[in-house]
Amino acid sequence: MNDTILLTGGTGFVGMELIARLLEREPGPDVVLAVRGEGQAGADARLREVLRRLYDAPPAAARRLRAVPADLTAPELGLSDADRRDLAACVTHVVHCAATISFTQSLAEARETNVEGTRRVLELARALPRLQRVVHVSTAFVAGRTEGHFHETDLDVGQRFRNTYERTKAEAEHVVAGSGLPAVVVRPSIVVGESDSGWTTAFNVVYWPLQAFARGLLGEVSADPDGVVDLVPVDRVADLLLAATFDPGAAGTLHAVAGEHALRVRDLAAQASATLKRPPPDLRAPQGPGDDAIGSVLAPYFDVRVTFDDRRAAALRPPAAEAFAGLVSTIVDYAQAARWGKRPLTRQAARARIAASR
Ligand SMILES: NC(=O)c1ccc[n+]([C@@H]2O[C@H](COP(=O)([O-])OP(=O)(O)OC[C@H]3O[C@@H](n4cnc5c(N)ncnc54)[C@H](OP(=O)(O)O)[C@@H]3O)[C@@H](O)[C@H]2O)c1
Repeated sequence: MNDTILLTGGTGFVGMELIARLLEREPGPDVVLAVRGEGQAGADARLREVLRRLYDAPPAAARRLRAVPADLTAPELGLSDADRRDLAACVTHVVHCAATISFTQSLAEARETNVEGTRRVLELARALPRLQRVVHVSTAFVAGRTEGHFHETDLDVGQRFRNTYERTKAEAEHVVAGSGLPAVVVRPSIVVGESDSGWTTAFNVVYWPLQAFARGLLGEVSADPDGVVDLVPVDRVADLLLAATFDPGAAGTLHAVAGEHALRVRDLAAQASATLKRPPPDLRAPQGPGDDAIGSVLAPYFDVRVTFDDRRAAALRPPAAEAFAGLVSTIVDYAQAARWGKRPLTRQAARARIAASR
């Protein structure tokens, strides 16, 4: 019987890249997307929307995909008894990618999705007789405001958190660690577009200051020039998710990060300046927590003092140095072609565009 992946978060940026990569595997697994939607018809509509965002013409392998309606915040994920029985009969791997990634939710709201939602996914996983592996997508920013080096084995290091997102993702990791399930945790840093095509569906975090800079709105930025900007292309994250799911040697926590390839704020400014042919912005050290200059509003992660160790992830899947070189210019090029999200291309079209330019 074929492997079957149950994937949460398949309608999101990281989840979509993973779906595309799972469909590229031949022979590949069946994939069941647990998505928010009104009943089966709503779930099917969400699946069609995912395919529309990925492809101009979906591949034949898309027949390996189906969707079930589910909500992290509902008791027992809101799954019907029939869907539960069906999942128990076939699911071999669970990839839990869904989360609220808002930095501004109340602690109670963020906990309901990120902590209790994870608990519900793990309860479901425990009831799957064919289960081989659970992969939990966390964030490297469970490190919070740690300064220095944060290891894949670190979790509680006395850190303070910037927001409820970081806090609840760290709490969710404790739930995973206490579950006793065969779980692998993957912690991406700041996920950006593909390293070759630049394709993304999410124009947030680092895209905000880049877009403002492209429009000439960012002459002065409140940011520490030595701050670390760890950008990881989504294809590297997907590589590690696939390894975490299928590789017998995958265990513990893996950092999906730039690591030694991480930029400093001054490098990001210089590369953006060269790409956009604008004079570099004036980098001004933040004046403190009350500093609400444009840079700190647009770029909540420009005060980072932590570097991420990724030795375990690199041993499992060595990162390609070229995936990080030129990344800023690649993601800016795609963002401009997609008008910063106003006219997105499908992943297929973005990849064809880059293939044609070579
Ligand atoms: N993007 C980054 O820079 C980054 C960095 C580090 C870690 N991560 C982690 O990577 C994972 C995916 O992030 P992303 O960037 O792909 O985020 P995203 O694009 O916002 O996608 C979030 C996904 O979670 C789903 N979701 C949210 N609340 C849900 C609920 N109550 N029930 C069911 N599904 C729900 C969303 O479904 P809807 O379509 O219905 O909203 C969507 O599919 C998250 O765990 C995140 O913490 C992301």
